[in-house]
Amino acid sequence: MSMVRRAKPDASSLEEANEIVRGNWLNAIEQHHQQYSRNLKVRDILDIGCSVGVSTKFLADKFPSAKLTGLDLSPYFLAVAKYKEKRRPNSSNSFQWIHANGEDTGLDSQSFDIVSISYVELLPVLFTLMKSTEPFLDEYYLLDLEKTVKEAGFINVQTILTDPRHRTLTATVPY
Ligand SMILES: C[S@@+](CC[C@H](N)C(=O)[O-])C[C@H]1O[C@@H](n2cnc3c(N)ncnc32)[C@H](O)[C@@H]1O
Repeated sequence: MSMVRRAKPDASSLEEANEIVRGNWLNAIEQHHQQYSRNLKVRDILDIGCSVGVSTKFLADKFPSAKLTGLDLSPYFLAVAKYKEKRRPNSSNSFQWIHANGEDTGLDSQSFDIVSISYVELLPVLFTLMKSTEPFLDEYYLLDLEKTVKEAGFINVQTILTDPRHRTLTATVPY
């Protein structure tokens, strides 16, 4: 909530800020998909670092027939994500929640149509506090993400500013 508020301080409500920030991020994903993936039907989406499932739910609403897999290192966040999912039984999507490291998921290669890793930016104070549980923060901030993604074999690498504080990088796995 504070993340979207900081990004859109002029929004009239938290809901409006959320819709703008999350909406722009989802539009970047959708546009990339339409442009580079021949708009193939999205069946499986993986949300790495899903936390309590907020980003997972936004992805689900954008792609209503997709099966969502939320993956996180924290079993506590995942427990909240599961609890919140049970409280909205009418969702057209199905969900599964996996406790794993995003760097070594154990999931089959190329088994998802979209893989998302969203919103890991932190305030400096929070950055210091979080270092005990997020030991690779320094490396993350120094990382040239576009270069790393290209070197890993992705194509169509694009970065756009989706709100004043956040950029969204999209890329495609070559067929
Ligand atoms: C700021 S939250 C992002 C929440 C969510 N994606 C969103 O947009 O609302 C970052 C999450 O990444 C998770 N995380 C950090 N490193 C991870 C890793 N290597 N594998 C899986 N999850 C990780 C943390 O546990 C935390 O829940």
